[in-house]
Amino acid sequence: MNVLGISGSPRKDGNTEILIREALEGARSKGAEVEMIVLSDKDIKGCRAHPTCGQGGKCLIDDDMQPIYPKLMEADAIIIGTPVYFGGMTGQTKTFLDRTYLLSKLGRKLEGKVGGVIAVGGRAGHEFTSACIMDYMTLQGMVLPSGAFAHSFVRDLGAAKTDEKSMKAARALGERVAATAMKLRS
Ligand SMILES: Cc1cc2nc3c(=O)[nH]c(=O)nc-3n(C[C@H](O)[C@H](O)[C@H](O)COP(=O)(O)O)c2cc1C
Repeated sequence: MNVLGISGSPRKDGNTEILIREALEGARSKGAEVEMIVLSDKDIKGCRAHPTCGQGGKCLIDDDMQPIYPKLMEADAIIIGTPVYFGGMTGQTKTFLDRTYLLSKLGRKLEGKVGGVIAVGGRAGHEFTSACIMDYMTLQGMVLPSGAFAHSFVRDLGAAKTDEKSMKAARALGERVAATAMKLRS
C-alpha cells in the first residue's frame, strides 16, 4: 500500500515539508510504503488545455511532471500539503493540480484513491485552502476519510517541528488516510 505526499511550498525544509513528512510517518506506522515529492525541486509548467489532451496517453508538456504521473497512478493514497498564500493554496500547488487533468482524461486514474490535505499558514485562510483541495479531490473521484485535513498555524521557517499541535494533527491525518486506504483495499 503506497501513500504519496506532495509538498507545495516553494520554501525548502519549510513547514509544509515537515508536516507532510510527519503525516507520512503516521501512514508508515500503519504499514504503508511512503514517498514525498517536493514541488519546489521540480520544473512544472502550467496546463495548456491542449485540445488533444489524453490522446497518445501522455501530457504534451515535457517537464518534471512526466515521472510524477506514474507515481500518482500507483499510489493508493495522496496527501497534498500547501502553505496558505493570500488565503489560498500556492501557485506551485495549483499548477500541479491542474496538470493532473491528464489523469482524468486518461480514464479517471485517481478515482478511488484516498485523499488528505495539510494547510499551513501563520494566521488565516486554512479552511478555504483545504476546502479547494478537497473539492479538487472529489472532482477527481477520490475518497476522503472523516477528518481529511490538518491545519497548522505556524509562520517561521521550521516552526512546525516544535509545534506539538501541528505535528500531532499531521501524524493523525497520515494514520487516518492509510487506515482508510487499507480498508478500501481489503
Ligand atoms: C506570499 C505569501 C502569502 C502568505 N499569505 C498567508 C495567508 O494568507 N494566511 C496565512 O495564514 N499565512 C500566510 N503566509 C504565511 C505562510 O503561509 C507561512 O509562513 C507558512 O508557514 C509557510 O509554509 P512553508 O514553511 O512550508 O513555506 C503567506 C506567506 C507568503 C510568503
